[in-house]
Amino acid sequence: MAHRSWFPESLAGSRVVLRRHIPANLGAFLRWYSDAEVARLTRYQDGPMRPEEIERFFTARALGPESLSLAVHICETDRLIGTCALSQLDSDNGSALYHITIGEKDAWGHGYGTEATRLMLDHAFGTLNLHRIALSVFSFNERAIRSYRSCGFVVEGRAREAIWRDGQWWDEVSMSVLKSDWEALRDRSDGEGSDRVETRSTPADRTTPAAGIFGRRR
Ligand SMILES: CC(C)(COP(=O)(O)OP(=O)(O)OC[C@H]1O[C@@H](n2cnc3c(N)ncnc32)[C@H](O)[C@@H]1OP(=O)(O)O)[C@@H](O)C(=O)NCCC(=O)NCCS
Repeated sequence: MAHRSWFPESLAGSRVVLRRHIPANLGAFLRWYSDAEVARLTRYQDGPMRPEEIERFFTARALGPESLSLAVHICETDRLIGTCALSQLDSDNGSALYHITIGEKDAWGHGYGTEATRLMLDHAFGTLNLHRIALSVFSFNERAIRSYRSCGFVVEGRAREAIWRDGQWWDEVSMSVLKSDWEALRDRSDGEGSDRVETRSTPADRTTPAAGIFGRRR
């Protein structure tokens, strides 16, 4: 379970800002997760979730304490475009799973999801002092795989032909990023003066006891 103190008030990048979900975000979830293309990219099951499933998912996974789930807003307009989360936070092993859905399809391919992932990794490794973040992604989801790679995730395995979609079999790709990968990427980016996002966290975030929880062990 994600301890409440692990939640930042917000994580701000140059293009997106991540904030806690509010109950009013349910309408956006209902729209995003009833979309066939979003379902194709994110679900094992063929077809989208039913509205009551989406509502349960939203209550448990976006508002509830089980996941560290944050809403993705475009900085300039404050438009809500998606959601991202760390789930199954395991304090004994310093690990968690990562999930992201930019639900507004016109916001795909603009770098918003990639920046959101970088912000989440900065929080996971830089503030919470986690050790490893893992995820799985369907092999046909090239945009997601490219996005994850650019954030430091590497492919560590494949469940061969685990998913039947669009009339053929596809692998489920397992990816992970370790704190050391993230540090190496950060150091390289700093050295190159690259386009890596400058992140700002709220004062509440910097004083979160979560940093101490993991910091003591490693
Ligand atoms: C996956 C997702 C988070 C990526 O975020 P994004 O901001 O849209 O991604 P970006 O714009 O940064 O693009 C990432 C990479 O994919 C490339 N890309 C963009 N559109 C693409 C497309 N249609 N096909 C293949 N690659 C594409 C970009 O050029 C970029 O590659 P580069 O870093 O080598 O230049 C977001 O698109 C999303 O949430 N999609 C729907 C749900 C989903 O797939 N979730 C992930 C489930 S595991």
